[in-house]
Amino acid sequence: MAEAIATQGLTKLFGPDIRAVDGIDLRVEEGQIFGFLGQNGSGKTTTVRMLTTLLRPTAGTARVAGVDVIAQPAEVRRRVGVALQEVGLDELQTGREVLTLQGQLFGLSAKAARERAAELLEVVTLTEAADRPVRGYSGGMKRRLDLACALVNDPRVVFLDEPTTGLDPITRDAVWRYVQELNRERGVTFFLTTQYLEEADRLAHTVAIMDRGKVVAEGSPAELKARIGTDVVALTFAGGELAARAEAALARLEGVQKVLRAETEVAVYLPNGAAAVPAMVRLLDEAGAPAEELVLKQPTLDDVFLQVTGHHLQTGEGAGGAGAAAGTKLAGGAP
Ligand SMILES: Nc1ncnc2c1ncn2[C@@H]1O[C@H](COP(=O)(O)OP(=O)(O)OP(=O)(O)O)[C@@H](O)[C@H]1O
Ligand SMILES: [Mg+2]
Repeated sequence: MAEAIATQGLTKLFGPDIRAVDGIDLRVEEGQIFGFLGQNGSGKTTTVRMLTTLLRPTAGTARVAGVDVIAQPAEVRRRVGVALQEVGLDELQTGREVLTLQGQLFGLSAKAARERAAELLEVVTLTEAADRPVRGYSGGMKRRLDLACALVNDPRVVFLDEPTTGLDPITRDAVWRYVQELNRERGVTFFLTTQYLEEADRLAHTVAIMDRGKVVAEGSPAELKARIGTDVVALTFAGGELAARAEAALARLEGVQKVLRAETEVAVYLPNGAAAVPAMVRLLDEAGAPAEELVLKQPTLDDVFLQVTGHHLQTGEGAGGAGAAAGTKLAGGAP
């Protein structure tokens, strides 16, 4: 199978000290949805900007849709679509005007551009609002319009930088469904950055986890979770000190492979969680560190993230949304 994106040693330094992207090797097959996960500042946007020719790499190479980003940037831009994290729309124009102009910029005739705009407005359910100025759109509507802009040139590879951040759950769901539909029915490749583990789990065929400019894990969500190889018992304590005491006590439990703590939460990785719970409760009693909550679960992408980076994926302030909250909490993560 051909590859939609391939990088070797892709690197971006900002000044001598900031290694925003630190030599990454990526391979995204055509027709995949690739999830690029990482917390604030891990290098996601910088990677997207290099792959879409908006930023010149300091070192390394990248090919996108079969074209070298450094040698042939204009050709790359013709073949890809991109919706950046910061929505950049002309607020005075209507949604229809924005899309029509975008189409003409890509060389469509006025008529073809109008038709394309109407089609895309339908797809992102903005037809009703199409003739209102963008400045009156809600945040979610602007995101959807931005997504439509990324699709005007019928790209084979689409980059979406945190497409659902700040969207309400219903709109988020609509974006997810649309991405999946385009992927399944038209074979469009998506490179999607996200801070939502649930989003990556639901959508992505392959996930790469970025930490401080490096790819620290890569595979399908199922593979990554299976690599953990154990059950997870997630415990919550009333305070950090209690959790620390519990962490020390639980490490002595028979069969435990690993105990990780993030503030008041402790995750115990062991092969047969259910059988170990009674002994676990006894140990905690003896240690004087009773748990407020105890949940037995299969590993989630959050557990993977915690194992490979040593911390939880911290989502930004505006993250919101039930899915996001559940995805980042040790005890609440969906399988
Ligand atoms: N133009 C720039 N000048 C200097 N430093 C920059 C610039 N752009 C990004 N950086 C730094 O590079 C690192 C990676 O930033 P980047 O925006 O790629 O992260 P990100 O993973 O997209 O984060 P977020 O989740 O917040 O969007 C950060 O340390 C950031 O401060
Ligand atoms: Mg970013």
